[in-house]
Amino acid sequence: MSKTETVTLIDNSTGKQIELPILRPSNGTPTIDVRGLYKKMGYFTYDPGFLSTASCQSSITFLDGEEGILQYAGYPIEQLAEHSSFLETCYLLLDGELPNEQEFKQFSTIITCHTMLHEALKRFYSGFRRDGHPMAIMVGVVGALSAFYHDEINIHDPQDRMIAAHQLIAKMPTIAAWSYRYANGLPFTYPDNNLSYAENFLQMMFSMPTEPYKADPFYVKALDLIMILHADHEQNASTSTVRLTGSSEANPFAAVSAGIASLWGPAHGGANESVIRMLVDIVESDNDVQYYIDRAKDKSDRFRLMGFGHRIYKNYDPRARIIRKTCHDLLEHLNKEGKDNEYQELFDTAMELERIALKDDYFVSRNLYPNVDFYSGIILLAMGIPLNMFTVIFAMSRTVGWISHWNEMIQDPESRIGRPRQLYNGALPRDYVPLNKR
Ligand code: CMC
Repeated sequence: MSKTETVTLIDNSTGKQIELPILRPSNGTPTIDVRGLYKKMGYFTYDPGFLSTASCQSSITFLDGEEGILQYAGYPIEQLAEHSSFLETCYLLLDGELPNEQEFKQFSTIITCHTMLHEALKRFYSGFRRDGHPMAIMVGVVGALSAFYHDEINIHDPQDRMIAAHQLIAKMPTIAAWSYRYANGLPFTYPDNNLSYAENFLQMMFSMPTEPYKADPFYVKALDLIMILHADHEQNASTSTVRLTGSSEANPFAAVSAGIASLWGPAHGGANESVIRMLVDIVESDNDVQYYIDRAKDKSDRFRLMGFGHRIYKNYDPRARIIRKTCHDLLEHLNKEGKDNEYQELFDTAMELERIALKDDYFVSRNLYPNVDFYSGIILLAMGIPLNMFTVIFAMSRTVGWISHWNEMIQDPESRIGRPRQLYNGALPRDYVPLNKR
């Protein structure tokens, strides 16, 4: 990165002028370094929602929203989706390089060794109401991991950080599956280390002690793909939350728990759940698809087309394109197997929404395209995963992204405690008035 180029900032009221360095990334948008602005000129910058602000340097994921490009450590998401596996992608995100055969074998063994949970953690589940949302349980249980591993972690030791990363990646499917088992009054299922990451999760979700369980290989492949596509997405709200929480040197399990809380919102990871609710509403209502498109365009109506639009993508989300095809293939597989396929109608409705929206000036002029959540929910639903577990699966997949960013932040010499400024618009100084005089 070169610091030689600058932009000149002139204060028209005082005539004062300063040079601000332009930082050139290896790929993407040049960035103005404003760190010296307050000291040199006495100004803050104002950017709610970080529309134009890079909060850190990172070499994990590259995203070009105008072109619809997503790469993990330089590898196009399309290639990883086709050729890689979720665990290999985890290695890539954590390490920055794809593993060789021996490295991958070793990594898989390490992850497998950490899949069990401390038995005492089971008791946490019984503290929750049975109808509690599994994401609420995830926030609580993942945060509670800090009570089990806190003393052992020195976050400035790279090896300790890697152990925490491995523990989180390995334990997340167990924690996630148990949140489902608890809500449904089912006995907790232990991990089976002979199974792949995705198959093990499905086994922990659905197997019964009374009969053998074998996951449909099509489901295993589809879930693995969904996890690859959700594994990281640079500085999104939940990842930034993990970074901000971790910037105070907080425990990594607590920081990831904060990330899960952020992901839960319907504007972020909770959208996959909302998409299905919207599609079911459309299918069950007497109104046609156009009625919902019109509602989404109506500014007096809070309804938005869920699974549409993205802060960064002003083009088709590349993950949505891959997921749409998988969704289509999975439904075809269900049809071929002669399995009940009540999801076809949801898929057809989603395609119809997409078709109409992409021709409508409102969506076209605002660059609103389907995002990753638009089709992923139909796949999960068809696999028998209940609606309230969708965002949990997103959290399970994104854990590697969160912990990779946390790890990168801790070792970045430029990283400091995250502490934004504000534009104060409150009352001016005034004197306290005693209660009986107000
Ligand atoms: N339906 C209707 N209008 C929309 C939609 C939508 N889904 N998304 C954005 N717009 C409009 C919005 O009203 C605004 O219009 P105007 O310029 O007239 O005020 C314009 O498009 C820009 O939207 P914005 O809210 O300023 O954009 P943002 O970058 O702040 O928000 C978003 C991005 C993803 C929160 C938003 O597009 C949205 O709410 N989408 C639906 C929820 C969703 O699918 N979220 C999942 C995101 S992808 C998964 C993830 O990364 O978590």
